[in-house]
Amino acid sequence: MTGRITGTGSWVPEHILDNNELSNMVDTSDQWIRERTGVERRHIVWQETTARMAAKAAQRALEQAQVDPEEVDLILVATISGNEILPCTACSVQEMLGAVRATCFDLNSACTGFLFALNTAQAYLNSGIYRNALVIGAESLSNLTNWKDRGTCILFGDGAGAVFLEADEKSRYAQVTHSEGEKGRALTCSSRNQKQYVEHPDAQETYMEMDGREVFKFAVSCVPQVIRELLEKEKLSGEEIRFYILHQANIRIIQSVAKRLGEAEEKFPVNIQEYGNTSGASVPILLDELNRKGCFKAGDKLVLAAFGAGLSYGASLLEW
Ligand code: ACO
Repeated sequence: MTGRITGTGSWVPEHILDNNELSNMVDTSDQWIRERTGVERRHIVWQETTARMAAKAAQRALEQAQVDPEEVDLILVATISGNEILPCTACSVQEMLGAVRATCFDLNSACTGFLFALNTAQAYLNSGIYRNALVIGAESLSNLTNWKDRGTCILFGDGAGAVFLEADEKSRYAQVTHSEGEKGRALTCSSRNQKQYVEHPDAQETYMEMDGREVFKFAVSCVPQVIRELLEKEKLSGEEIRFYILHQANIRIIQSVAKRLGEAEEKFPVNIQEYGNTSGASVPILLDELNRKGCFKAGDKLVLAAFGAGLSYGASLLEW
């Protein structure tokens, strides 16, 4: 038994910050950002919260699946940027939706978060503990971004994406995942929850810090590797895959993965130009856009793949 996706949804803030505006904030240019990353603009939270975006994306997924919130068994939110530590974002989403029966919790695995949450939900459905699940990736990364650091602030954006899964005996799902904690220093964000009184009475806000070149090198080798592992495990060839839906971190990473796999770039849809890197939200936002454009037909095999802080990475196979 695995979960079939019966609804998708996404939601991004209205406020847009484009590369030209960003060039007035740090020493960079529209041309540099486009050429080095593929990003043209990003959506930034104004009045919105991570939970509110997550709930809006989830509501759209439920509407498409034609399911009432009271029928939802499990709500998982992948996020590193909930506005509150307590309650967890998933419980706030539950309240906003009125999903009174659901069990709710958050999962923190940065950009691989949505994929790991999807795997977790699949395990619950596979065991028979739950019959359905809402899996959401939602981020307000702009709150964790150092807007004076041109090495990171050009990359990130805010938004949310969601899928609704229903247990189905005929659907197919497989996964391969890895974590390499010894490489974790390449991408960090210190907790704002340290011993402020005893050790850091003058502590400043903390932000995401990244060794961009290290993360880039890691991504272009680990993503093709984990996709190959998945295809071998499932005895599938690349030709059998309709789309590779990759975490939108940098267009050059996506192009490099396509090349290393010997696959046409057309099979790797991108929307990074519009949203930047929205971490755990990037894969479900792209999935929802493609679904609503009618790009998938029944039986299509999709590979989802992501990498990120941890460092962690993974790939999943699903049949539409
Ligand atoms: N504008 C103009 N120049 C810049 C900028 C900028 N925004 N940023 C860096 N530069 C300069 C550097 O100072 C350097 O100048 P120098 O040659 O005089 O020293 C030059 O551009 C090249 O710098 P690099 O860091 O080598 O640039 P690179 O091509 O690697 O691009 C980038 C940097 C975009 C950050 C890239 O390394 C990258 O995308 N890395 C992966 C990031 C990623 O995928 N993160 C995932 C996060 S996942 C998560 O869990 C949140």
